[in-house]
Order: sequence, then structure tokens, then C-alpha cells
Amino acid sequence: DSKKVYNLTISEEKLAPDGFTREMFAINGQFPGPLVEVNKGDTLVFNVYNDLNDETSIHSHGMFQRGTPWYDGVPGHTQCGIPSKKTFTYEFKVDQSGTYWYHSHSKAQYIDGIVGPLIAHDPDDPYLEEYDEEIVVLLQDWYHTDAKTLLPQFLSPVSQGNEPTPDNGLINGKNSYNCSWASEGSNCHPMDVIEVEGMMTKRQTIHRLPINIAQRYSVIVTADKPIGKYWMRAEMETACFANEPNTLNSLVKATVKYEDCDDNDNTNSTAWTDSQETCIDLDTSSLIPYQEQTIPNVDYKLTLNVSFYPDATGVVIAHINDSSYVINEQYPTLQKVYDNVTKFATDQNVYIIDKDEVVDIILLNSDTGEHPFHLHGHVFWLLGVGKNGTSPDYDSVNTKNPIQRDTASVPAGGWLIARFVSDNPGVWGYHCHIE
Ligand code: C2O
Repeated sequence: DSKKVYNLTISEEKLAPDGFTREMFAINGQFPGPLVEVNKGDTLVFNVYNDLNDETSIHSHGMFQRGTPWYDGVPGHTQCGIPSKKTFTYEFKVDQSGTYWYHSHSKAQYIDGIVGPLIAHDPDDPYLEEYDEEIVVLLQDWYHTDAKTLLPQFLSPVSQGNEPTPDNGLINGKNSYNCSWASEGSNCHPMDVIEVEGMMTKRQTIHRLPINIAQRYSVIVTADKPIGKYWMRAEMETACFANEPNTLNSLVKATVKYEDCDDNDNTNSTAWTDSQETCIDLDTSSLIPYQEQTIPNVDYKLTLNVSFYPDATGVVIAHINDSSYVINEQYPTLQKVYDNVTKFATDQNVYIIDKDEVVDIILLNSDTGEHPFHLHGHVFWLLGVGKNGTSPDYDSVNTKNPIQRDTASVPAGGWLIARFVSDNPGVWGYHCHIE
């Protein structure tokens, strides 16, 4: 176990990730931020210098922060924002492994570039012998307008609650804008899912996987075809956009190529004979944990109703149990807990849970869009997901051997049941990750 130190300087830069130059944020001058790699058991240190003219923060998404809830990086919950031109140090033990990421938890800053991958290696990874190399693939929606312009538009009556439509999608911070090559190639190469958000799974062959903001997977791709380059394609789920994005830009492509591959060699997926096999989409409910799970019985059920409706000024806002969260930057919830505050304003949406309870979050979504909900500081067993949001079906849930993760989507008008053990004292966010 060693200490891994990363110095992260957050600054404003003029960059052109997809050929369109704009003001955005970068970490150490780069976008996405540097790949952070640790081994299970290491202590990770982030020295964050804020070179912006605004506050910022770094949240290590999916890290349990056991014993260090004050390093979870959430202004209003666990800290005050890092002031402009100041340094803040996060230091915590990584007693977990898998695919994670880190991002600003302030305003909508990660949309503008304060985001990077975080990988925790496990010397006992059961699949260690089955791959030769690791490639990190970070997918992202991309706007040509910055969040400080988009956010006030979104939070005005004019938007009616419709999110701005992305101008493009990026793979590892890159894409071309409006290039015809983006529509080429639709054949599938198999890949095997082996990990989801820190949990190893039984190996399962698929061709495509649905992924929502904040979710992560590991897949093994076997480069066994007589070609030098492998295409990677990502397609946006456009159902939630008020306006259809430019169809070309809803496709994102990248290539994985051999080091000695001729750059002009454009032989693609059509070069092999089995390329016409039909694509198998990952059905996330079919994922099986690598190690059989024993699920404790529930002690406490917390029902959360998600709904969207206009406030007095006509702005459509999100509610959980009819209360809409208002950030209190000056007095973070964790500080209130230390000050023995036990009554919280309704707009703080605080639920107090005893330690070592088995908790079921029953999430009911009355919105017309899907919402990927992330739980800080924990993973939960995803017991079930259903379409009819007014009647979650407890009888149909999987308590035998369900997958564990930290971000799961509740369908439009649907429900989900997430079971977790409250064994990590602190103040933890549970929120839709659509920024
Ligand atoms: Cu990715 Cu509240 O976090």
C-alpha cells in the first residue's frame, strides 16, 4: 500500500475538442483530466489548485470515503467550495477496485471539462491473466456553449425543463464535428463485460451496451481479426432531447489500432466474415456477480418520489417527495451534523438513517424521462427496475444474486429498488446525475 499523489490545477482554457474552439475548463491544461491510477489499498491524494475565477471541487465518483466523508468533494454537503486561487487537499484510502471517475461537483462545471478517469487496480483481479492491455474509454456529451450560459437558460421558464441538446459527443475528449465519416460502419465486434462499477461479473459476450451518465463498465475485446484498426462507436440516446441533435453528431467514433498499423489503412469491420452477426445489446438485468451475493433482509424502506413541475415563477424544477433541493454553500450538511443539528429545512432533503440498517430506496419516477441515480459512499444491490412507476413490484425483485453498482437508471414513469447497508457514517448524496 502506497501513497499516490496527483497535483491537479483547474484552469480556464481555449480548446477545440471537436474542432470547434471554445472557452472551457481543463485539468493540468488537458481535457479530459489526467488518468488517475491507484492500486487497491493505496492512499490517494489530490492537491487541487483552483485557478478559476469561481469556486470548484473534486468528487471522486464511486469512492466509498470510509472514515473520510469530508473528502467526498460535494459543496453544500461535505465541504465549502474551493475558493478561487486556493488549494484544497483530498486524501483518502482506496479500499476498492474497478472503474471510476472524478469530476467537479460544483454548478455544472464538469460539463465544461472538469472530469477525468480514475482506475483502481486489484492485484487479485480474477480476469488479470485474460487481457494484455488496458484502454480507458470516456464518453461524454459535448456542448459548444458553456454551462454558465446554458444553466440560466435551462433554469428559466422558457426551457420548460427541457435539457439543452448536446452539439456533439466525445470519446476521450475528442471527435470531429460534422464529418461524414462518422456515419460509416455499423458492424459489430464482440466484447465481454467483466466489471460494472467496481463489481466483477461473470463474463458475458455482447456487442453493444447501454450506458448512462456516471456509469462504468470493463469489457475485454479480443483483437483477433486480420486488421490493424478497430472502430469504436457510440450513439447518443436522443429520446430525452427536445430537439433532435444533428444525426451525424449523435454518432461518435474512435479507433483502437496496433502501434505499427498504417494510418491510411482504412480496412474496417467489413474485413471479416462473421461481421454480419446480429448485435447483442447488454441487458443489464442479466449481469451476474463474479462472486455469489448474499442479500440481507430489509430493515427500512425509503420511498422517494421524483417529479418535475413549475415553481411559482414558472421554472420547471425537480422534486423528491415534493421538495426541491437548494444548495447551502455556506453551511454544509456535514458541518450541521457535527454541530448536532437534527432538524433540517425541507429544501435540504435530508433523510437520517441509523447505522448498520439494510435500506431499500424505492424510487418512483413520474417524469417522462429516464434518470440515472447515483448514491455516494456506497454501492447498492439493484433488486429491480420496472416500468409502472405507481406500483413497484416487490414480488418480482431479484434478491438471489443481483448486481451491485453505484449508479442505476429509473425508467421514464418507472421504478427501481436499490438495497444498501448503511455501514459508512457520513452525509451522502443521492441524485440524478444528469447535470
Ligand atoms: Cu458523480 Cu454526486 O456524483
